[in-house]
Amino acid sequence: MSQLIVVGAQWGDEGKGRIVDWASEDAELVVRYNGGHNAGHTLVVDGRTWKLALLPCGLLHGRTGAIGKGVSLDPQALLDEISRVSAQGLHITPDTLWLAEDINLVLPLHRALDVAQESLRGTPVGTTGRGIGPALEDRSGRRALRLCDLAEPDTLEERLDGLLAWHAPLARALGLPAPERAALLAQLQAWGEALLPFAAPVGERLAAAHTRGAHILYEGAQAMMLDTDHGTWPYVTGASTLPAQAAPGSGFGAAARARVLGVVKAYSSRVGNGPFPSEMHGAAGDALRERGGEYGVNTGRPRRCGWIDLALLRQTARLGALDALAVTKLDVLDDQPEISVCTGYRIGGRLHESLPPGIAAQAAAEPVYETLPGWQCDTGRSRRLEDLPMQARKYLERIEAFVGVPIALVSVGAEREALIAPQGAFDL
Ligand code: GDP
Ligand code: IMO
Ligand code: MG
Repeated sequence: MSQLIVVGAQWGDEGKGRIVDWASEDAELVVRYNGGHNAGHTLVVDGRTWKLALLPCGLLHGRTGAIGKGVSLDPQALLDEISRVSAQGLHITPDTLWLAEDINLVLPLHRALDVAQESLRGTPVGTTGRGIGPALEDRSGRRALRLCDLAEPDTLEERLDGLLAWHAPLARALGLPAPERAALLAQLQAWGEALLPFAAPVGERLAAAHTRGAHILYEGAQAMMLDTDHGTWPYVTGASTLPAQAAPGSGFGAAARARVLGVVKAYSSRVGNGPFPSEMHGAAGDALRERGGEYGVNTGRPRRCGWIDLALLRQTARLGALDALAVTKLDVLDDQPEISVCTGYRIGGRLHESLPPGIAAQAAAEPVYETLPGWQCDTGRSRRLEDLPMQARKYLERIEAFVGVPIALVSVGAEREALIAPQGAFDL
């Protein structure tokens, strides 16, 4: 197989970035196909920490990166990120980064709307406040601006007028400052100058690379339980996060035939609001957060933490047609005397094998747990499955058996080499 999709199977922050970093070793091209700078990936390479939001993680391995049409692009966020990594010694050029020429833009007015909309909801979603949701609304409303519009001065002015015709009254009604046309136009022109050199026909280039046998890696952002259709709605992001999005989101339909590696944390975390039946409250949840360093990469928000939810994982394995799993952060459970795994839910006295869609039902879901013995020793130096304590191997076997998907990789530390992994990501 010459194509692989890496996708989150829980609520995000599973460690997709570090798994993409591993798989990039064997890839020629690494493609982001969804999300925006609501994503945040931390990679630790040779003791140095890198924080990426929009840039494909494969760039750290010296691979060519592409940002596909399915990504929501905040031009300023990308320029800032390019400067940040450049200061760390990673120089991004139009040879190493291709930006889909028709990618949709996230603008400052979207950020303002994101925050305003949150304040109007009964229970806020707890968005990252990056403007991703409102930008996607403009995309389906056919008002959005695209990168290629910046190359056509007349088109740009006409599209901008159309956009502001919608946003000016909206801002007034919500008590937000009116968007200023002249300032926005000047900003857009400057972004065009800086970013148009990166614009490329990403789908066409992927097709050409695929034809000559290049290994292509697709890097998912967010995770399946945040999918706008199949996640824990309405506490989800604004777009699709399923691996099936790799095809439309990259502009290369054959991505649909890629194998899919689902990334799963050895426990669970969630940022923002929404149901989380296996959440650990109080001191136990706090201890897990501290041990796992569970704070948002971008926003610094503390992540909610809990036990792994196998019932939910079985759901996402089906949704994403996962071929294999990568289990991350096993080391974070090293000090637990016992480990619980959620195998279903009790709602109003009835047992459920999967989480039903009703909002009240989801909020009322009590976890049904199975308890396994912990291992209470250090796994951080394990590099082969045989190095792991027997209880840790049993834990992994239980996950495999319940979810029905084989575990191909286990990570036991944030460093690049803290991994139990097979040779060759594309042979999975
Ligand atoms: P992503 O959004 O899925 O790429 O994940 P994040 O980068 O937001 O969050 C994962 C965090 O866990 C990062 O800080 C990683 O450095 C860290 N991490 C990844 N794998 C491991 C692991 O196996 N053990 C430990 N202790 N930390 C890890
Ligand atoms: P990575 O790629 C974790 C969550 C937000 C919020 C919901 C909607 O690092 O795994 P949005 O700003 O997208 O409208 O917020 O989705 N969210 C994430 N949570 N990791 C992410 O990305 C996330 N991207 C969005 O916290 O609950
Ligand atoms: Mg993250």
